Amino acid sequence: MPKSRGEESHVPRHVAIIMDGNGRWAAGKFLGRIRGHIAGVGAVRKVVRAASDAGVRYLTLFAFSSENWQRPKPEVEALMLLLERNLLAEAEELAREGVRVRIIGKLDDLPKGAASAARKTEEITGGGRKMDLLLAISYGGRQEILDAVKKIIVDGVKPEEINEETFRQRLYAPDVPDPDLLIRTSGEMRISNFLLWQLAYSELYVTDVLWPDFDEAEFKRALDVFASRERRFGKTSEQLTRD
Ligand code: FPP
Repeated sequence: MPKSRGEESHVPRHVAIIMDGNGRWAAGKFLGRIRGHIAGVGAVRKVVRAASDAGVRYLTLFAFSSENWQRPKPEVEALMLLLERNLLAEAEELAREGVRVRIIGKLDDLPKGAASAARKTEEITGGGRKMDLLLAISYGGRQEILDAVKKIIVDGVKPEEINEETFRQRLYAPDVPDPDLLIRTSGEMRISNFLLWQLAYSELYVTDVLWPDFDEAEFKRALDVFASRERRFGKTSEQLTRD
């Protein structure tokens, strides 16, 4: 049940993050964009541990959007290499910590090495029960919705059977509850084609901090702000108090 203002503070079950600002972080230090992405991986490590320690059950990170393929080839190649190397390097440790890695997006679009590292990481960490870490890779929210529509047609669902539940069952990770909190770093006020269906009622938290500087303390700050929010899901404050 959503908590109203005044009730004991609570941890969001599902946090989704748009990790933005790697390029600006690098430019600020007169470094190339790729150095920004490398520093961004360090922030990923910190935030995964902070989320798991805080009791977050699902963490979804936007690691590579379907639009990111349009970036310069060396940058795309570097991002793919970073994914390939870091996923496998962290897999055993994540498994020990009970973190299950799941990929959402078009893995088939990835170079073989990165796709196979992603699949292997999913296998190695498959038994994790403490936290699900969903990595959105070659992911686009509109594409996920279109894919769900295609599945509805292929499954022969009748128009009168189409509702939020039958639709949700055909999303990439149907068992995962909608994000309670969306964090976006580096100050942009955009959703950028991320989890379009799932973010309908999520609380938004935008910080000017650039992703490579986002650490455990920044994550805790976001959770504290979330805990102070009143989620109404379209109801009035009075109705929520009565519920
Ligand atoms: C946005 O910054 C960031 C990305 C497009 C990539 C994010 C990927 C990582 C942090 C690496 C992920 C790795 C693992 C292992 C999950 P930007 O380049 O758009 O920054 P800018 O807006 O300042 O240019």
